[in-house]
Amino acid sequence: MSQKRPTIIAGNWKMHKTIEEGKQFLSELIESVREVGHQVYLAVPFTAIQPLSELASNSNIVIGAQNMNDASEGAFTGEIAGRMLTEAGARFVLLGHSERRYIFGEGSGFVNRKVKRAFADRLQPIVCVGETKHEREQGIAEEVLKNQLLNSLEGLTSEQMESAIVAYEPVWAIGTGLTATSKEAEEMHHFCRRLIAEKWGEATAEKVPILYGGSVKPENTRELLKQPNIDGVLVGGASLGFESFLQIVNYQNTVCR
Ligand code: PGA
Repeated sequence: MSQKRPTIIAGNWKMHKTIEEGKQFLSELIESVREVGHQVYLAVPFTAIQPLSELASNSNIVIGAQNMNDASEGAFTGEIAGRMLTEAGARFVLLGHSERRYIFGEGSGFVNRKVKRAFADRLQPIVCVGETKHEREQGIAEEVLKNQLLNSLEGLTSEQMESAIVAYEPVWAIGTGLTATSKEAEEMHHFCRRLIAEKWGEATAEKVPILYGGSVKPENTRELLKQPNIDGVLVGGASLGFESFLQIVNYQNTVCR
């Protein structure tokens, strides 16, 4: 099943790395991943997008952003527009990351407008969804996921859906060292794919890569990626260290715990 979809290893640097630090990391990474068969994405700070996109231009590494506004321009102090990111060289954008949802209060309606703007600005959206620990304990994880996913992707055409990426990131696993087991993650990925199939049809659902995120490490990547509905990983903390990220990128050769 997953042969139809690309494997994507994505790093999310969050608010880490200056331009110089990013350049050093990326130069080494480019050399180390030339022969890797799958796609490597890096969501970097805004200031690093242009220099890193230039550096990555002849490589198999794709540079993107971590957020954007839903407007094309305007009086929104401190915000950034999709077309500014495209111009700087970004090719994708993370939208609806749980840190945006829970720290900055962004709801799925806002995320949905950003997703539409991203398509208009030629950016591939990686749309993040995931339940909190409390929601999981209350037994409403699927309901939360359904609401976030369908509301964030509302109104997309099948064509748009097929070029989007979904990331399932349980909030209780982000930066906590707790990872969903591969079985738990697979169940949720399967659930997300069913939701997409119900709304956009089976053929479309089979094409959408669904990434897992939440304390991904070199030791658990291979097991996660063995699951039929897990098409890649979105890595925060472990994408900051060169060695750990490289081991994740080379997950086929990394020893599982
Ligand atoms: P983590 O972050 O790998 O540090 O848990 C993942 C994410 O927030 O995308």
